[in-house]
Amino acid sequence: RSFHVAVVGATGAVGETMLSILAERDFPVGTLSVLASERSAGGEIEFNGQKVKVQDLATFDPSGVEIALFSAGGSVSKEYAPKFAAAGAVVIDNSSAFRYDDDVPLVVSEVNPEQVANRPRGIIANPNCSTMQMLVALAPLHRKYGIERINVSTYQSVSGGGRSATEELGKQTGQLLSFQEIDPQRFPVQIAFNLIPHIDDFQDNGFTKEEMKLIWETRKILGDDSILVNPTAVRVPVFYGHSESVAIETRDKVTVAEARALLEQSPGVEVVDRHEAGGYPTPVTHASGTDAVYVGRIREDLSHPRGLNLWIVSDNVRKGAALNAVQLAELVAAEQR
Ligand code: A2P
Repeated sequence: RSFHVAVVGATGAVGETMLSILAERDFPVGTLSVLASERSAGGEIEFNGQKVKVQDLATFDPSGVEIALFSAGGSVSKEYAPKFAAAGAVVIDNSSAFRYDDDVPLVVSEVNPEQVANRPRGIIANPNCSTMQMLVALAPLHRKYGIERINVSTYQSVSGGGRSATEELGKQTGQLLSFQEIDPQRFPVQIAFNLIPHIDDFQDNGFTKEEMKLIWETRKILGDDSILVNPTAVRVPVFYGHSESVAIETRDKVTVAEARALLEQSPGVEVVDRHEAGGYPTPVTHASGTDAVYVGRIREDLSHPRGLNLWIVSDNVRKGAALNAVQLAELVAAEQR
């Protein structure tokens, strides 16, 4: 059985990766519709060695689409995802448009796959990239030792902001190295050779929305509103791969050896934790272009009797977005076998 699959935002950074992961994983694509704005309609995209024409989402008829992967921003999802769902498609949405709705499941494929079936509106939400990689690593620890509190600082690459953000880091870097003035467009201030503690909009409480996503999504995905999360989200001049410095406090004591043994057999996780030069994951040496969530620098917190520190790195465009969306599509497809 193969499926009529639509990718909305197919010309974007995540959409393009969704297409290559569908091909890599041999997803049973029967018909493929690739959709974007009228700006790129009429152009061609390669899928599995074949050329596919890009269609304009605004004039596309969704009848017959069975699985639709959306990654074209929140406003596009808000307008079109319900239309695709009404036409009979299961929508897997990478935007934040529906993530906090009670009747839309928010699913990490390794953590709460059973929630995929619980979709009264025909929409399944794909979590934010930072929450995604954090929970692939923390969910097994939570189940066994009970995480009570998470302190997390993120080091997020520019690709999380889409293609234009990725291009801007390259452009600013070139300009700075040739002593030219820079004029930030996609970032509030210079990103090349800098760090910016500001991702998404500021909220009334002084946190950014990116930080609040870590709180809201962690609780929803783990199904536990008692978990305390204290986040700081920072944009860094890295092209691909988000990193996170995470300090957890658990109900039951967990040693480094126990944490390592558990993580080594957890799905989607790879432990890289040798106490030597390069014996830890970085975005460039491990994450970029790969599927795993890498965990290193596992240490017992010297300041807390039940505290554990971890360094968590993953490719934000793959596991953080496109790969998880395709894994959710696989779960939906498996229902019909
Ligand atoms: P387009 O290339 O036609 O602008 P990124 O996150 O890398 O910036 O990509 C965003 C994706 O969302 C692109 O594929 C972009 O298409 C698509 N997109 C943006 N706005 C719309 C829209 N109004 N309708 C359909 N697709 C859109």
